Amino acid sequence: MFNPRGVAIIGASRKPGKIGHEILKNIIEYGYKGEIYPINPKADEILGKKVYKSILEVPGTVDLAIIVIPAKFVAEVLEECGKKGVKAVAVISSGFGEVGKHDMEEEIVEISKKYGMRLLGPNIFGLFYAPTQLNATFGPKDILQGNIAFITQSGALGIALMGWTILENIGLSAIVSVGNKADIDDDDLLEYFSKDEKTKIILIYMEGVKNGPRFIKIAKEVTKNKPIIVLKAGRSKRGAMAAASHTGSLAGSDTIYSAAFKQTGILRAMNVAEAFDWARAIAELPPPEGEDTIIITNGGGVGVMATDACEDYNVKLMNLPEDLAQEFRKYMPPFGSVKNPIDLTGQASEKEFAGALKTALKDDRIHAVILLYCQTAITDPNSLADAIINVIKENGKTKPLVISMVGGKECAEAMKKLNLKGLPAYPIPERAVSSLGAYMKWARYIGKI
Ligand code: ACO
Repeated sequence: MFNPRGVAIIGASRKPGKIGHEILKNIIEYGYKGEIYPINPKADEILGKKVYKSILEVPGTVDLAIIVIPAKFVAEVLEECGKKGVKAVAVISSGFGEVGKHDMEEEIVEISKKYGMRLLGPNIFGLFYAPTQLNATFGPKDILQGNIAFITQSGALGIALMGWTILENIGLSAIVSVGNKADIDDDDLLEYFSKDEKTKIILIYMEGVKNGPRFIKIAKEVTKNKPIIVLKAGRSKRGAMAAASHTGSLAGSDTIYSAAFKQTGILRAMNVAEAFDWARAIAELPPPEGEDTIIITNGGGVGVMATDACEDYNVKLMNLPEDLAQEFRKYMPPFGSVKNPIDLTGQASEKEFAGALKTALKDDRIHAVILLYCQTAITDPNSLADAIINVIKENGKTKPLVISMVGGKECAEAMKKLNLKGLPAYPIPERAVSSLGAYMKWARYIGKI
């Protein structure tokens, strides 16, 4: 499914704006290198590609078929896919279990099984896989590549978040829309991504799982080497009802889900921003080797707020030994503080920040760093971002470093620069702390710290 030699788009439409047209366009324009076979009985050529009347007419190998025709015709083309020797099908079409047509859903699963094919969906927006440059979705074209595999049970939310990750400069290794999960479920994908070199972290938007015991068994194995973040919706009574009519999922008791996540070391995020904040940090940073964390800041207030957040998210602030405190004193005026938060004071320039950061990175007693900046006229955010990037260039990313820059549009630009360099930066300190806290929680679960 992710490394196909050839892809057929069954229902590739001639008309721009139709789903079958847009998927074909994305596959071509994102640069997929394998063979592309549009299938449509009424067309000869679409977007410069030769069109086949049926998949059975395709001369080459087709490993993956994307099916974009109305639900009632899907079973018939699945039979043809099976005869052609297709390995996996992604059924975009809606109109199956989610609207009560369970018999139709069972039928397509049966046909797939008969031919040894795996089925993704139905009721999905497609899939994206960075290593093969395969964007078989009708979402945005220019997905940023990175190390986060994103599995989503919600289609519209998934597509919306694809756009949002581009805006937020978050790189993805894969996106998989699982829809009704008639065959391929989260656990199958967890198994795959746990071995995928490009993926460092797996993020799931979930409304329900089909096979709880199998999910738990696999998640337990996967979290030993890769963190999993789950955004589980349908927590409330009404939310569960909404999930049932959305993807036909049984949202189940939230207490049971929470317990299962806890037992398997899954990090449960409560909203989208939190999920991607954590994913960004975990995807970009080395895991912590210990608990001892310091805050370096030029602002007392943000330091205090971050200190509170450290308690909320279980991040341990260390007491600095005297020799280390002396080192940090070099980068602050006499009225600064080394009590952790290390307050360089409002007069700190990028030089003081860089000196303190270098000290923190070099000393093995410090395991993680939270760097907080409040915009002042003394230090330009862009110069500070450059200084941080240089320190990391010289010293390496040896320990987790999360950054927060509080201020105006110059801060937003500086943070974009940092994020594009793989240095997680957030507009408020609590988000930086919460991201580090999530990483610490996982490291604790696997016994690393
Ligand atoms: N083999 C190949 N091509 C065929 C076949 C066939 N057996 N039958 C029809 N086609 C062609 C059609 O001629 C058409 O091409 P054309 O536009 O050039 O004439 C094309 O395939 C599509 O067929 P249509 O009948 O026009 O179907 P339409 O595009 O209107 O709808 C679709 C198909 C998109 C699958 C629709 O039935 C559907 O399920 N839509 C919902 C999809 C969705 O939202 N999925 C969940 C996503 S997640 C979210 O919520 C965003």
